[in-house]
Amino acid sequence: MDTLWLKPEEISVAARLLREGQLVAFPTETVYGLGANAWSEEAVAGIFLAKGRPQDNPLIVHIAGRAQVETLAADIPPEAEKLMERFWPGPLTLLFPKKAEVPELVCAGLETVAIRQPAHPLALELIRQAGVPLAAPSANLSGRPSPTCAEHVWEDLAGRIAAILDGGPVGVGVESTVVDLLGPEPMILRPGGITREELEEVLGRPVLLDPALLGAEERPRSPGMKYRHYAPAAPLEVLDGPERELIWQTILQEATPDTGLLLSEEGAAYLAGRCPGQFLVLAPLNQPEKAAQRLYSALRTMDKAGVKRILAEAWPRQGLGLALMNRMEKAAGGQCRRVEVQ
Ligand code: TXA
Ligand code: MG
Repeated sequence: MDTLWLKPEEISVAARLLREGQLVAFPTETVYGLGANAWSEEAVAGIFLAKGRPQDNPLIVHIAGRAQVETLAADIPPEAEKLMERFWPGPLTLLFPKKAEVPELVCAGLETVAIRQPAHPLALELIRQAGVPLAAPSANLSGRPSPTCAEHVWEDLAGRIAAILDGGPVGVGVESTVVDLLGPEPMILRPGGITREELEEVLGRPVLLDPALLGAEERPRSPGMKYRHYAPAAPLEVLDGPERELIWQTILQEATPDTGLLLSEEGAAYLAGRCPGQFLVLAPLNQPEKAAQRLYSALRTMDKAGVKRILAEAWPRQGLGLALMNRMEKAAGGQCRRVEVQ
């Protein structure tokens, strides 16, 4: 299949392809998505095929406006109203009890459907012109880092999908926060672009983290969180600990010329001139949102540089730091090492 590379002014072509049941990658504010008509089981099946995605991993349905929620959700909890009002359009995905008409494949057989209204003008216009909600996972091959620009989508999916709508680089850089409001307590199933602190402020009560995210031996409630994900080709290890300088010293001891180093600005300044390895500087430690924006692209750069091993400095788990660390730990396949003075 020849994949079309579409410019923003060719959006009507993208919308037509979607109406015909084809797959189109499009920009959102978080990462690029791979869209298909959510009402068409056949179109949605194509997504799993193109990405090599396991069929037990449900998709997020993207809508253009609040009114479309009723077509998909059987019930809307009052707290969902609050969060939609405050954070949509934006990087927040909410679970709702699904209507029977939503194809089973979209929800991987679950009773819930995940919905979000993305905050990207091209995404919203595309959904509007297509006239249907779009089921859309991130537009990467399953297991690869999510795409933060059209070129990344091309690397992974050229020849497998009908078109890519190029909207330039994305803003947030990590995926949406997935929140479940259907249990007794609000719970984050996947940390993302909207922070736990922001959610708690609006809901006025604590928001839990799925225990599986904290390393408990439980099955994550968001099926996608159980896979090694976002992974670069080289093995990655995250170094964490109470003392920053100890983390840097460990990197100094272990790095070789073909080690990739994912560092804060502070870490890079400490190691500059005396540590071998390929430096990739994400951001200053107090700007996790900037680091999140650059993470996936950095992982792809490491792949291209052909490093044999990647050492990553941990970030404080506050604000966007929670999502950043979750993605780093996934990329590491759980390889997080604490360095402490004995
Ligand atoms: O920012 C985003 O959310 C991006 C852009 C394209 O919108 N999309 C995205 O989709 O990250 P995907 O498929 O890569 O991740 C969707 C996550 C998975 O972890 C999946 O298991 C979870 O959402 N999910 C979807 N439906 C669910 C449901 N009904 N119950 C629990 N988890 C669900
Ligand atoms: Mg994904």
